[in-house]
Amino acid sequence: MRITNSSNIWEQQTVLNNFTEQETEAYYDNQDSIYSSFWDPDGSVHWGYFDGTTGNDFLKACANLNDTMIKRGQIDQESNVLDLGCGNGTTALSMYEELGCNVVGVDLSGVRIDNANTALSKRLDDAQEKVAFEKASATELPFEDGAFSHVWSQATLYHVHDQEDALKEAYRVLEDGGTFVFDDLLKPQPNISPSAQKHVYERLLFDTKYNFETYQKELESIGFKILDAVDLSDHLKMSYWCLSIMTRNRGGEHAEHYEELSESYEQTAQAVVNREVGWGLFVCQK
Ligand SMILES: C[S@@+](CC[C@H](N)C(=O)[O-])C[C@H]1O[C@@H](n2cnc3c(N)ncnc32)[C@H](O)[C@@H]1O
Repeated sequence: MRITNSSNIWEQQTVLNNFTEQETEAYYDNQDSIYSSFWDPDGSVHWGYFDGTTGNDFLKACANLNDTMIKRGQIDQESNVLDLGCGNGTTALSMYEELGCNVVGVDLSGVRIDNANTALSKRLDDAQEKVAFEKASATELPFEDGAFSHVWSQATLYHVHDQEDALKEAYRVLEDGGTFVFDDLLKPQPNISPSAQKHVYERLLFDTKYNFETYQKELESIGFKILDAVDLSDHLKMSYWCLSIMTRNRGGEHAEHYEELSESYEQTAQAVVNREVGWGLFVCQK
């Protein structure tokens, strides 16, 4: 993994992560049972949006992120949503159950798509008409131009090698006037300490050329109009403090792994404080 030192990351057009899609796929296939054991028993793996309604409760904050994105993205019963990087399908299914909208989820991990389809098969017939899951990469979506009213994505796009390609695909599959609502990790500045390199970038198999401002410039250059952009870095920090506590001194089958994760989560929270990683929420219109 290359550590970049230039002061202008926007000019570093070649900064792409050095991991292959196959490595990311294998990572999520293999780590699924560990994540499900402590993050969210329902299988979702994203960060939380904390406010007066959640207090310090991590899972409430994760559910609150869903509610916030639904509201800001104006998703309702009539919506036809693509969930990019749907993981185990938890959010896609709860979005359908809450709103009654159509949802298609795609993910690179075959294990997670199998889990999503198993969860779907246990739902009533109506869900099976309105919800579907398919294994596919965000950079090559198996859908026609303009197929969706909304593209939704949580905690996924930082993994994609060529993020620009994925953003262009999101634009392509949206109908005119459609909404792209998503969160993604950011690199606020380019000087990354060895600790953040190890515990954030290498652990999560990613790198990015975008900070909060340059991400928006990229979206605009693709053709999106930015409706809303929120720097959620403080919520990322809080999420990792919570995760660090949730995995600390946790016994059982994965005890050794939890110990390493707890240390990495603490270092990740510290990396947010040091502005070595950030988190943004964007709502854009085609
Ligand atoms: C942190 S998980 C988030 C999953 C889900 N959005 C959630 O909130 O639970 C990241 C997901 O991105 C998926 N992913 C990584 N690269 C991808 C790609 N190029 N295309 C589609 N999915 C991808 C992974 O397989 C994994 O399920």
